[in-house]
Amino acid sequence: MAAIPVKIFIDGGEVEETKLVSETLVKRFGKPLDGQTTNPSLIAKNLAGRKTGKISEDAALEEYKRIVQQMSKIIPKGSISIQVFANRQTTSGEMIKQARERVKWIPNASIKLPCTSQGLRAAGTLSNEMPINITLVFSQEQAAAVYEVSKKARYPIFISPFVGRLDDRGERGMDVIKNIVRMFEKGDGHVEVLTASVRNLEHILYAIYLKSDIITIPYKIFRLWADQNFPNPAETYIYKTENLQEIPYREDVLLGRNWQEYNLSHDLTDMGVDRFYSDWMEVAGRGV
Ligand code: G3P
Repeated sequence: MAAIPVKIFIDGGEVEETKLVSETLVKRFGKPLDGQTTNPSLIAKNLAGRKTGKISEDAALEEYKRIVQQMSKIIPKGSISIQVFANRQTTSGEMIKQARERVKWIPNASIKLPCTSQGLRAAGTLSNEMPINITLVFSQEQAAAVYEVSKKARYPIFISPFVGRLDDRGERGMDVIKNIVRMFEKGDGHVEVLTASVRNLEHILYAIYLKSDIITIPYKIFRLWADQNFPNPAETYIYKTENLQEIPYREDVLLGRNWQEYNLSHDLTDMGVDRFYSDWMEVAGRGV
């Protein structure tokens, strides 16, 4: 069976899933998972499933730590993304403080920051200290800013475009992967493209076809792929989508400017920040 030509991460908040996926990969390909992505919504879902009701923020944070520590034991050589908690008011200073605490949880952490001006400001400082994953990316212009702000990084930098959330509203999310990969061809290769918010098998096949460096896959979709014996796309692969609007390549978005000159705003980024925060607050209540 052909090896998988990109790095495979699991996207989730359940330790058991990490174990099952990694074991499957070892059995089929002789190598474990390359990494894990988590976020506040996924961890909140895990905590809500225990039906213990709301717990204090400190207790919820301790649980987040415990969960990633277990994941880290399963894939000690993999990269594990841990996200900061941020709403629209959270400053870069607060994100830096959180990042410096969370990175100590496990030896193989990558810290996830939102693709907002405060998030990227934090990334500029932190990319000299620890691996970073910029999340909630929806545009080529945001990717150019991530590239520039992390240019002097001394640790791995991931960028996570959320393809499924664009699909959900009728835009062809995979075009953002295609466009970023194309724009980065002119760069120095220091940012790895991590296809996220994967909803179906076609996302996996096309991400491989486009040479996305990494794909993070929810357990359910991983199972579909495994059940079909891990198909790879053919050289003649065509990404079939129905009724999704093309997101064209922007020739005018060029690398090489100051990161603050790029337009970072995207409504899905703002909505994503809000959703992560409110999902977390559902389980981790103030004053509990
Ligand atoms: O890795 C990102 C992912 O967890 C977001 O996925 O399905 O909430 O858009 P989704």
